Amino acid sequence: METPTPQSFYTQAEDYWRDVPPTVDGMLGGYGSISNVDLNGSKMFLQKFLGEGEGKTGTGCALDCGAGIGRITKRLLLPLFSTVDMVDVTREFLDQAPAYLGPEVAQRVGHYFCQGLQDFVPEPGRYDVIWVQWVIGHLTDEHLVAFLRRCGSALRPNGLVVIKDNVAFEGVVPDETDSSVCRDLDIVRTLVREAGLRIVHEEQQTDFPKEIYQVHTLALR
Ligand SMILES: C[S@@+](CC[C@H](N)C(=O)[O-])C[C@H]1O[C@@H](n2cnc3c(N)ncnc32)[C@H](O)[C@@H]1O
Repeated sequence: METPTPQSFYTQAEDYWRDVPPTVDGMLGGYGSISNVDLNGSKMFLQKFLGEGEGKTGTGCALDCGAGIGRITKRLLLPLFSTVDMVDVTREFLDQAPAYLGPEVAQRVGHYFCQGLQDFVPEPGRYDVIWVQWVIGHLTDEHLVAFLRRCGSALRPNGLVVIKDNVAFEGVVPDETDSSVCRDLDIVRTLVREAGLRIVHEEQQTDFPKEIYQVHTLALR
């Protein structure tokens, strides 16, 4: 594949997502059936860090990055945090979010930011948890490092950035369908370090179908 210029890499992804239905199945590329396993795994992961006392992560405010219609906001973040902000580049998904979340819980969404993560600047010091799932492959290395650095600055004391994503067996595997890449774990770890963040915990999601990429969750601060 010819190396795309960053601009076409981003615009092709935007064109792809604009045509995807605003449903859980759409968010998961037809794998809507894995959503429950995914969310239960994420809850177990996150609960290791939350709670009362020294060093525990607070539960005031979370940010869902590449949030789509709010699949994660609804079932993982809103049940655990008082306020959740959502950011996604696809306007149609954010427009669908209040109906998907339900009017009562949607009241606790603080902001819907419609912006690419490559441009988005989270408010410094605002978030206890910044959740970044199935979207890092849409950023170039340079933009991912800069974004993670901004996320680090946006954390409250004892806050966490969590990346949950597909990992390639080796190297970088491009996906021309949605204009993204899948990186191997060593590359992701290197980019995290370049952003000035430290991996405090790492797990592989279990019980996913055999034919899809391995999915790893990394807690950073
Ligand atoms: C695979 S879906 C995952 C959605 C959600 N994280 C989930 O797990 O249900 C990828 C999402 O990333 C969004 N996206 C793609 N490129 C993006 C970018 N550069 N900045 C922000 N969001 C982006 C898409 O609009 C889509 O909602």
